[in-house]
Amino acid sequence: MGIRIAVLASGRGSNFQSIIDGIKEGDIDGEVVVLISDKPDAYAIERARQNGIPTRVIPPKECASREEMNLKIREALGSYSPDLIVLAGYMRIITDELLIPYLHRIINIHPALLPSFPGLDGQKQAFEYGVKVSGCTVHFVDGGCDTGPIIEQACVDIRDCKSADEVCEKILPFEHKAMRSVVAKFSRGRFVVEGRKVRYEDGRK
Ligand code: GAR
Repeated sequence: MGIRIAVLASGRGSNFQSIIDGIKEGDIDGEVVVLISDKPDAYAIERARQNGIPTRVIPPKECASREEMNLKIREALGSYSPDLIVLAGYMRIITDELLIPYLHRIINIHPALLPSFPGLDGQKQAFEYGVKVSGCTVHFVDGGCDTGPIIEQACVDIRDCKSADEVCEKILPFEHKAMRSVVAKFSRGRFVVEGRKVRYEDGRK
């Protein structure tokens, strides 16, 4: 039986799409059981509908605090029993309300080589800093902003990029590949976290 994947997304959802494609093309052994968004107009919701995936919207303005928002997400996820929660362009901090029940089962994609340029607009930060190489990082989520143990990274040469938008465009396909690859591995084996180090064991036990 494949893994049950829940996706949290705030926007366009192209990384979410890479998971849908990975499932359809047989790379990922699993299904997306629910898409949760904090934004009612996120295009990710439309992608979910097109693929018959249930959706839930949990807007922050309906929550008294960050903790309450995470609690509402936990309640919404409950009946779907996800094995893995993927933050695919989800722009909010995850708190203990979700981290504790889903320890080492929440992953995030970030559009820079962490620990450089965490937070919003990682590509723009990298461009403005003048780095020659940037990339993307898939990591486990902890209570910080893009600080959890690193699972996978890809380097992208950005010397030829003339704007932050060009950096975004150049890095995005590498994000899709890394996201799809990590979720596929998760579906076929397990990631073992030892401190900051993550190693992979093939085969689900
Ligand atoms: C992606 O570039 C992702 O790495 C970034 O948001 C974008 C979402 O695009 N996430 C972060 O910056 C998280 N810190 P998408 O909605 O098309 O997947």
